Amino acid sequence: MPKSSSVFVCQKCEFETPRWAGQCPNCREWNTLVETTVLRGSAKKHIRNKLGGVAPIRLSDVQVLKGSRGRLASGIGELDRVLGGGIVPGSVVLVAGQPGIGKSTLLTQLALQVAGTPEIARSKKGRASQPRGRSAVLYVCGEESPGQVRLRAQRLAATGSGRRLGNPPQGRLRAQDNSEADVLLLAETDVDVIVQSIENEKDSLSMIIVDSVQSLSTEDLSGMAGSVGQVRESAERLRRVTKRFGIPIFLVGHVTKTGSIAGPKVLEHLVDVVLDLTGERTGGFRILRAVKNRFGATDEVGVFEMADAGMQEVTNPSKAFLEESQQGVPGSVVVAVMEGTRPVLVEIQALVVPSQLAMPRRVAQGISVRKIQLLAAVLQKRCNLSGLGTSDIFVNVAGGIQVVEPAADLGIALAIASSLLNKPVSAKTAIIGEVGLLGEVRKVAFLDKRVKEAKKLGYRTVVTPGTHGTLLKAVKGLGG
Ligand code: TYD
Ligand code: MG
Repeated sequence: MPKSSSVFVCQKCEFETPRWAGQCPNCREWNTLVETTVLRGSAKKHIRNKLGGVAPIRLSDVQVLKGSRGRLASGIGELDRVLGGGIVPGSVVLVAGQPGIGKSTLLTQLALQVAGTPEIARSKKGRASQPRGRSAVLYVCGEESPGQVRLRAQRLAATGSGRRLGNPPQGRLRAQDNSEADVLLLAETDVDVIVQSIENEKDSLSMIIVDSVQSLSTEDLSGMAGSVGQVRESAERLRRVTKRFGIPIFLVGHVTKTGSIAGPKVLEHLVDVVLDLTGERTGGFRILRAVKNRFGATDEVGVFEMADAGMQEVTNPSKAFLEESQQGVPGSVVVAVMEGTRPVLVEIQALVVPSQLAMPRRVAQGISVRKIQLLAAVLQKRCNLSGLGTSDIFVNVAGGIQVVEPAADLGIALAIASSLLNKPVSAKTAIIGEVGLLGEVRKVAFLDKRVKEAKKLGYRTVVTPGTHGTLLKAVKGLGG
């Protein structure tokens, strides 16, 4: 057995020291020392011996792992969409998000969906892409007790959310009734014990879920669970064992509000897919985004709603986002943005009021403040709305989603102008267009798709770069 020990390595200058210090003794940088395992002496020789028998192989001779052609349908349509069409066998997926956003809920639902249904392992052509019998899901709960997980699973199963999610093919429903029996719980935080357990159960496992990677540690490192060294080493050990057996694994990683401490950032290069679960914790909607995906596009987005019955898929996001929208009220507009390949209609609300401050406030939720500042400046200069200079501007995207696309510019600008002038955008109007610094309205990508989505939802009028060439013209049309 190779023996490993640990050293602390400076991430800046690669200086090695056996003991931790706040400041690197070599380059004098602070907080750069990270604990890392090293192989010494006999262990290195062991690896060399192993390498002796290995030679590079031709790409054309590489055996494609059985099943790598057929992805596994997770049974959760929105998740499959973000993954690029299902779970790739042997893939390592990191699910990142703030505490309380719904990671454990989503993954419990996933476990219930996949467990006990070996037939999901079939590819489209009906060929089994994994050996039969692999139907159990290993759920490692490092943070919660098995009792807590069971309670949640029972609640989710009782409300039938597992079943309502997606459109499972006929024949899977029966198996699901028994899916709890096929979820194997492991309350363990020692990653080496978990690896051993995976090796023992490898013939029956179709998927592994680890909640969370920050709770894991190995005795080979002295750092606490959650430290950069421990998180990286734990994830690496799990990656190695699951790749070997071709079992997909989902790792939960917490991110903190201020960024990420010892979390997802450390792991991004180590895993195949990074999914980011975001949303307002108080609001209902949750957006699942692929930040990195070795097996598909990163611009797909899944939309869920957190309900009593767990995470419900939102298959028609436009309709959901507009449910409470106020038609014909000054300051409210509807814009069409692309979320991945899907056009989505969202409501943008602006409130413009006289400011009491020397530096009027610009506050935005779901949009960058810089965008508000820029559009306010264009409105002032090109549309003679000088009142904006002495007004506070608040802008919100309803539903808690982020609008980053320039195609929403015209809508945001009109919402601000509409509130300032107290003139509404006429009801059932959607707005699409990018605004340039000269006040011109520019073309946007996927215009047809956006217009189609708007018409589909009953928006009779669509303001586009074609109908309104300048911001001034669009502002003049307000209230009409
Ligand atoms: P959780 O999945 O535990 O979040 P995370 O693992 O990301 O920290 O869920 C967080 C919240 O979701 C929790 O406050 C309770 C709520 N919740 C529901 O609203 N409905 C449900 O069915 C479940 C299981 C949780
Ligand atoms: Mg959790």
